[in-house]
Amino acid sequence: MQKNIPWIFGGFLLGVLATAYGTHQWFAHAQQTERPGNSLDNPIDIPRDLSGLSIKIPRIRVVHTTDATDEGGSMYLQEVDPWLGYMWGKALSQRNFRERDGVYGDNGKIEGVLLPDGATKMMDRSHTNSCGSCHNVPYRDAGAGMTIAKNGATGRNTPHQYGGGLIEMIGLQIRLQAYAIADTNRDGWISKEEAKGKRLIIHNLPEGEPGRVAIDLGSFEENEYGMPSLNPVMYPIYVDKNGQRIAYARNMKHPEVAGYQIEVQVFGWGNLYMPFRPPVSTTLRSFTTAPFEIHSGLQSHDPTTYLSPKRDAHALVSNAGAQQFITAASKDRGGVRAPSKNGMPGISLDDPDRDGYAEEISEGDLDVAEWYFLNHPAPARGRQTADVRAGEKLFAQVGCATCHLPDWQLLPGNTKAKDYTQRFDGDRRFFDLKVAFNDKTERLESKIEYRTEQVKTAKGERSVPRRGGYTIRGIYSDFKYHDVGEDFYQMQFDGSIVKEWRTAPLWGVGTTAPYAHDGANLDLDSVIRRHGGEALDSRVNYTKLTAKEREQIICFLNSLVLYQTDQLPCDINGDGKIEENFKVQGMNTGMECFNPEWLFRIPVKIEGPIRNIRGEKIVSRAGVNLRAAYGLDLHFLRDTDGDGFPDITDQHPTIRGFRDGLR
Ligand code: HEC
Ligand code: HEC
Repeated sequence: MQKNIPWIFGGFLLGVLATAYGTHQWFAHAQQTERPGNSLDNPIDIPRDLSGLSIKIPRIRVVHTTDATDEGGSMYLQEVDPWLGYMWGKALSQRNFRERDGVYGDNGKIEGVLLPDGATKMMDRSHTNSCGSCHNVPYRDAGAGMTIAKNGATGRNTPHQYGGGLIEMIGLQIRLQAYAIADTNRDGWISKEEAKGKRLIIHNLPEGEPGRVAIDLGSFEENEYGMPSLNPVMYPIYVDKNGQRIAYARNMKHPEVAGYQIEVQVFGWGNLYMPFRPPVSTTLRSFTTAPFEIHSGLQSHDPTTYLSPKRDAHALVSNAGAQQFITAASKDRGGVRAPSKNGMPGISLDDPDRDGYAEEISEGDLDVAEWYFLNHPAPARGRQTADVRAGEKLFAQVGCATCHLPDWQLLPGNTKAKDYTQRFDGDRRFFDLKVAFNDKTERLESKIEYRTEQVKTAKGERSVPRRGGYTIRGIYSDFKYHDVGEDFYQMQFDGSIVKEWRTAPLWGVGTTAPYAHDGANLDLDSVIRRHGGEALDSRVNYTKLTAKEREQIICFLNSLVLYQTDQLPCDINGDGKIEENFKVQGMNTGMECFNPEWLFRIPVKIEGPIRNIRGEKIVSRAGVNLRAAYGLDLHFLRDTDGDGFPDITDQHPTIRGFRDGLR
């Protein structure tokens, strides 16, 4: 026995070392959501997921490019392989970021703008490592979710982002319509003189269309606080007599201020609308940088949002075609750049949170994330029963639809118009998913309608959004802030009160309980009865209906639904039918569903029928051609040392350095 002690002890030590080595390796490679392996991979080296639902690509920062022929760059992912770009963007929204990706930095610290009590910041930071941990109903999509500590003790509920691109486009359109009314001399900003006597009245639909209404967003003139008397959805940025931004101006009483520019805040429940508060992020791109920073401690290095050629409110126009605003510039400004060997700008070494990890989110990452959110399918309508139809009529009759406006039109793009206020973007998406309930099969079904045209050049083919007009049906919002009564007022820590809220778009509302900005209503009837203020008449009308009629309204609202996109039956190849046994790369993938992986230039090939470790016959949906399908060998995506910095920007492509490419 005595003799065996060194052996026992030695064996134990070896075991510990092996475990440490193994788990260290595992830690280095794996995370819950990144599982590229198939049944033949050793799960210690390459975590696997035979359901095929996990993220199949390693964390590699996408490189921003503007030339679509740069293979694997962000413009290539948008115009040459748009579904691949969509999935790289989706992966960013679902990924559980790890320490080695630079996540967190200031866990538990509170951050954001100072609340009116003068002491408390808006919310706690670095507390989740993925967009998907809050936006997760349904799971794996840009869904709705939990209520979080934010702005005050009642908190804020997480809304869904289905159809977010359409909302963004409405906002940017309203912005141009406002300038068309007030910027008389067309110099790009609204002077105090120009504002005199003008009101912002716009319409949801063009002249002659049934359902067209006028939306009054207030007066351009100064109010007693020196701010434009516009609805809070319009956020002013003050400029001097040359139209350049005065970042420190609180209002137009400031001697240097000559007028203002505007951002339109179509996202978020409601903003505090106080001097010195930056607007709620107004574009999808900024609503990606801001949450990455606040919730996950990941700072973006994004020249698209921090460069302002005219030194006014405007930053650049993103690859996806959205005007960006300087108010959303994140802290990483690329002050110091790593050396690069090929003339590419090196990665930013600024590291604003001082956690040692550089360029945590790249400009190219934001390009593909924006591409994904812009194109994310919109909510659908479930089964259209007699009650649903009756409910929709009653909804309009009792006055709900005056705020919850059903339809909006995106005007066709005409980017060459002489008058800048007429340069509408048109529909910038590359596809529209038409989803409808099929009464025969009794399920939601879909088909893809492309919104692109093919452009052939000497260097190859690109697919570019046609930028036509588009009528959005059933979004149910006027995108205006309203005082809907005291029951909705949110008291801040110091007793000051937020009174006005953006009309919540009701699409998807059947699947997004709990309701209201604070998630305080667990069912639809109670959130409707909570309405007062400007909505008092419609609330009273609602309560006067018979119980049956109220039920019909609820039935109608419950028919506005979300759905799990990758499980949605879809005629993905456009042959007019949805196949039970859909073949991709020679493999039977089962039901033809909305899985973008089948639409890559090189579609994902699944592993197919195998026996699992228990000897049961299963179909493995893990991919077997991931490097080719996901473009991991393309020039701009290749990451030889696997440290997350692609070779093209890595200061040392063969030394693994998670921090800055070298260390
Ligand atoms: C900790 C939970 C949480 C995380 C993580 C999170 N969000 Fe959100 N998100 C929210 C809440 C809460 C709101 C509503 C905020 C408000 O209006 O005050 C919101 C609102 C949004 C909106 C506006 C939707 C609309 O139509 O009004 C977008 C877009 C969005 N988030 C994108 C993202 C992205 C992209 C990420 C990841 C980078 C992310 N969010 C991560 C909680 C979260
Ligand atoms: C004066 C404008 C107005 C009218 C009229 C109005 N609403 Fe609203 N509604 C709002 C606003 C603003 C909110 C957002 C409240 C918040 O942020 O907490 C809202 C929220 C809701 C919500 C919760 C949405 C969610 O995602 O949490 C539902 C459901 C709703 N309204 C249904 C109705 C119905 C049904 C009627 C008619 C009886 C109606 N509303 C009339 C302005 C209005």
